[in-house]
Amino acid sequence: MASQPVESCTLALFGGLGDLALRKLFPALYQLDRAGLLPAETRVLALARENDEPVAHLAAIGEHLRRHVPVREQEEAVMQRFLARLDYLSMDFLEADGYAVLADKIGPASRLIAYFATPASVYGAICAGLAATGLAERTRVVLEKPIGHDLASSRAVNDAVAAHFPENRTYRIDHYLGKETVQNLIALRFANSLFETQWNQNHISHVEITVAEQVGIEGRWGYFDQAGQLRDMIQNHLLQLLCLIAMDPPSDLSADSIRDEKVKVLKALAPIGVEQLSQQVVRGQYVAGNILGKSVPGYLEEDNANAQSDTETFVALRAEIRNWRWAGVPFYLRTGKRMPQKLSQIVIHFKEPPHYIFAPEQRPLISNRLIIRLQPDEGISLQVMTKDQGLDKGMQLRSGPLQLSFSDTYRSARIPDAYERLLLEVMKGNQNLFVRKDEIEYAWKWCDQLIAGWQQQGDAPKPYAAGTWGPVASIALITRDGRSWYGDL
Ligand code: BG6
Repeated sequence: MASQPVESCTLALFGGLGDLALRKLFPALYQLDRAGLLPAETRVLALARENDEPVAHLAAIGEHLRRHVPVREQEEAVMQRFLARLDYLSMDFLEADGYAVLADKIGPASRLIAYFATPASVYGAICAGLAATGLAERTRVVLEKPIGHDLASSRAVNDAVAAHFPENRTYRIDHYLGKETVQNLIALRFANSLFETQWNQNHISHVEITVAEQVGIEGRWGYFDQAGQLRDMIQNHLLQLLCLIAMDPPSDLSADSIRDEKVKVLKALAPIGVEQLSQQVVRGQYVAGNILGKSVPGYLEEDNANAQSDTETFVALRAEIRNWRWAGVPFYLRTGKRMPQKLSQIVIHFKEPPHYIFAPEQRPLISNRLIIRLQPDEGISLQVMTKDQGLDKGMQLRSGPLQLSFSDTYRSARIPDAYERLLLEVMKGNQNLFVRKDEIEYAWKWCDQLIAGWQQQGDAPKPYAAGTWGPVASIALITRDGRSWYGDL
């Protein structure tokens, strides 16, 4: 996957003074420069509407960079080299004139990467502007999420982009695909025959995917309230994780082979109709509570909140995949804000041995689990059963981990941020880690039916105290099947 060379280019960041650019994109580009991965001619152009002197904006970008790059990773020579690559252009993305100025600035030869860190409603206008100046042929476009609000609006955005850019130059970001451990899922599954032979309904009883965040809404109330946790997290990150766990082995590592397999999973997701909704999906909203001993406000008491909002900040659901591999294996997904800790993990629960020979009271202990931790402390742990040590223990069993902690094993290697990997792959022209149009659309289609069901039922989110693992109903969702969420304290 890492073999193509990085081509020099101009990287134009639309929304170049926004939160994403300042917190993630500039620091990621700095790190690529520090790793020697940016060719000397690569330039970075921040584009935004603010029309103060460019030097003032460039100085502000520099300040943010120093704030967001860990001090031990700030190397003055690299910092200066990186800052010298930066430029700023003030433009209104909806006005045609600005694109001619942009084309002049880029020059006749440079390849362009146009990164859209703006609301999706302007993607079409930017694409049209780039096309009108003749830049489109040498441009790759990168689209940030959310792409639309539902299937219809995401199609409208994708069609507006596709009017000027073919799919093979369109890179849709899901930053989870750039996380080191997420990529490791592919290596784990397809480079180890040990797992692949067990990876089906004959051997796996159920799968859990948890993406818990400790933070709340962090000044994004206006945006978040229009979206909610289903659109913000399930439609993209959690369904992508589910696809990587559930997909069949691709025939090779090419972008389309992987994406074809992911699409098959999304198409096979069993619909959840209104009549099953209350049993299979739980939506929640946090109320005031405690995190790390500090009181925190509820969702409706956050800054700029509308106290009547019924937007969900938590979703747990039970999904099924209708195919031979996964028939009868539930996938329990849950994600929420203001949970006790930041934790993203996938737990694969294997079935019990077919014939049981140990003491009956130990039976509940027996099960192998593969735990894939995405964050924090990236690593993989396989829970296996062994005998307890000691003459007095008889055949007493205990469950213990065979563990691979990435930070311990690869001590010297820094784990790159997802955006570093993703920007690098765009520069290489490699689409493996980006989401194809049909993937987004199938994911929306599945989520739209849940939202329609909630609307039909007038379903209000269930309250949960900040600092807990979600509404009680989310525990009932899994205990009804005789199981529990792994590791909840
Ligand atoms: C973003 C969501 O896509 O992912 C945010 O819009 C969320 O609401 C974030 O906080 C979580 O990303 P990470 O990498 O911190 O798990």
